[in-house]
Amino acid sequence: MKRIIHCFLLLAAMFFVCCSSEDETKAETPVPAPTPASENTTGKTLVVYYSYTGNCRTIVNTLTSQLTADVVEIQPADKTQRYEANGYAIGTQLLNAIKANPGSASSYPAIDPVSTSLDDYDNIIIVTPLWWSQMAAIMQTYLFQNADAMSGKHVAMIVSSSSSGISGVVADAKRLLPDVEWMGDALHIRDANRSQASSLIADWLSGLDLQRASAQVMNITIGGKTVKATLADNSSAQALYEALQHGPITYDAHDYGDFEKVGDLGQSFPRNDEPITTRPGDIILYQGSSLCIYYDTNSWNFTRIGRIEGMTQDEIKDFVRAGEGNVSITLSLGNATAIHQVSSNAAALKAEGYISIGGMRVASPSRGIFIKDGKKMLIL
Ligand SMILES: Cc1cc2nc3c(=O)[nH]c(=O)nc-3n(C[C@H](O)[C@H](O)[C@H](O)COP(=O)(O)O)c2cc1C
Repeated sequence: MKRIIHCFLLLAAMFFVCCSSEDETKAETPVPAPTPASENTTGKTLVVYYSYTGNCRTIVNTLTSQLTADVVEIQPADKTQRYEANGYAIGTQLLNAIKANPGSASSYPAIDPVSTSLDDYDNIIIVTPLWWSQMAAIMQTYLFQNADAMSGKHVAMIVSSSSSGISGVVADAKRLLPDVEWMGDALHIRDANRSQASSLIADWLSGLDLQRASAQVMNITIGGKTVKATLADNSSAQALYEALQHGPITYDAHDYGDFEKVGDLGQSFPRNDEPITTRPGDIILYQGSSLCIYYDTNSWNFTRIGRIEGMTQDEIKDFVRAGEGNVSITLSLGNATAIHQVSSNAAALKAEGYISIGGMRVASPSRGIFIKDGKKMLIL
């Protein structure tokens, strides 16, 4: 009899361990790997720009204050060139070489390698200066090298000139990118309308056929610091977005499993559970009412809510204050003031100067919110 009772107790203990471990072992349960395809159509926008004297950089600053986008700056390999010297002789020389043989890679001036993969983006906005009524030679190199990768993408262009018309630049873009889908006419910003650049860009953006440009963004605030997160394209993220339209949601969160900061939102949202292996920066809805911000990897069946892009794992850990126990997290809508940037040129970001709220380095900012030496400042 004693043996039977022991067996019963053992079975009961095993049953209890099995049942109660569901919440505790979500890290260990094997699930199929997620299909990466769903991540390939995020409606993300990449801004690619070149700027010799700073006008296009300023345009990109304005653009990224109105649009969620990653940014890549194209840099010439030879940074000693002065394209305007001797009556713009070098600029002319570079353009003539391209004109003489536009199909040959050796006709184009060398640029620094760009590590950002175009595969990650649906929309690409080119911001380029005009040189002698053509596209600046440095930008032509990038487009020549990436024409295949841009094939089928949705592309738009902003051209900056002193005064000349941009039809030659548009023709260059069409020659270099024969297989892209143009989202609308190019925007021309010249010295005479430069002071209205912000409203010109806003009008232009509203008329662009940006693919899923409505990809919604929410702010996450922890310990006084706010970053932007792009919301996923599902009914769960949409429901959260709609809830946030009524006001911010603040909840307490704690570390779990050394891979996430999780907390109860105090309300339930629709579930779109699927097998997901998380990456740092992923925002996940667990059991319909808990929000997890991941700073490491975990595999489970749960709902994708969104993602914090452009931050390293350490930066995300630092942001969520991983390991520090309870933190208060506020989700909200509106303009975030996070640096949120992908750059081909990390050195440019580290250089001295101001960083815009879009994450751009600005030599001499005119107006707006900038970060200098780690401090946020408003320049009027
Ligand atoms: C080599 C070179 C050629 C240029 N040619 C013209 C031109 O033909 N017409 C014009 O209006 N501006 C011309 N510009 C001026 C630039 O298009 C204009 O300043 C633009 O805003 C520069 O952008 P950035 O400051 O981003 O380099 C030229 C500039 C350079 C460096």
